[in-house]
Amino acid sequence: MAMVFITGSTDGLGRAAAQSLLDQGHRVVLHARSVDRAAALEDLASRAEGVAIGDLQSGAETKGVADQVNAIGRMDAVIHNAGVYAQRSRGSTPEGHATTFAINTLAPYMLTALIERPARLIYLSSGLHRGGERSLNDLDWAKRPWDSATAYAESKLQIVALAFALARRWPQVLSNAVDPGWARTRMGGSGAPVDIATGQKTQTWLAVSDDPAALVSGRYWHHMQQQEPACESMDPAFQDALVDRLRELTGVALPRS
Ligand SMILES: NC(=O)c1ccc[n+]([C@@H]2O[C@H](COP(=O)([O-])OP(=O)(O)OC[C@H]3O[C@@H](n4cnc5c(N)ncnc54)[C@H](OP(=O)(O)O)[C@@H]3O)[C@@H](O)[C@H]2O)c1
Repeated sequence: MAMVFITGSTDGLGRAAAQSLLDQGHRVVLHARSVDRAAALEDLASRAEGVAIGDLQSGAETKGVADQVNAIGRMDAVIHNAGVYAQRSRGSTPEGHATTFAINTLAPYMLTALIERPARLIYLSSGLHRGGERSLNDLDWAKRPWDSATAYAESKLQIVALAFALARRWPQVLSNAVDPGWARTRMGGSGAPVDIATGQKTQTWLAVSDDPAALVSGRYWHHMQQQEPACESMDPAFQDALVDRLRELTGVALPRS
């Protein structure tokens, strides 16, 4: 059975993915932003391999999460699920970054670079990523008036580009992005059309399945089907420029191969 680390597993799709994988007999490492929030994992924690604690707004705490995961052992798969939507303002993280960008883009980048390389990487994107092109000039929202919807869309395009950059750089790793659909979670709201079981299905399948259809890399998925994402996310020049900027902003380098 596989060992899977899931960021943001206290609620929503991350929690549902953890529950589903544990029910299938897989080993799961959970994640909460704080010891207080880890209380929400009480029922799952006793069945898990461990709970990593750290707020992904903070670069220092994100590094701590990677250390905690590495101390548990090598993961077979990591599901980069934690995310935020519709932040009222740019905010400023301990390192001075925009909150949405820090949690949705910088943290998964840093965790990818710092966690011992797994066999599979899955990144939670969104269909809204299609509104997020042309972010490179101001990734961190230092020059533009704040626009929460665009910031979210950009972060979700960046995460697709990161997934694809890794598929190119690390050919031995399966790296994919998933749009879970508009799902009934705290983020999606109670009126969302997609139930949580459906919303978590594609990412857990990509994490553990030996179905030949799941053993692919550099693809964008929606409800178990491959889709074509925004052009910019597929552009190797954009992917490489993005990875360069993420290295500069975090001081953390992504191993080339
Ligand atoms: N739901 C949708 O309709 C939808 C659609 C497209 C894409 N997505 C993507 O799917 C992923 C999961 O979304 P969801 O609907 O399950 O959201 P959710 O219900 O709001 O859950 C988000 C999870 O991320 C964690 N998280 C947020 N900020 C964090 C931080 N700074 N440090 C550590 N953990 C943090 C939350 O922890 P707390 O519980 O402590 O806040 C929670 O466990 C996100 O990446 C989202 O962008 C969702």
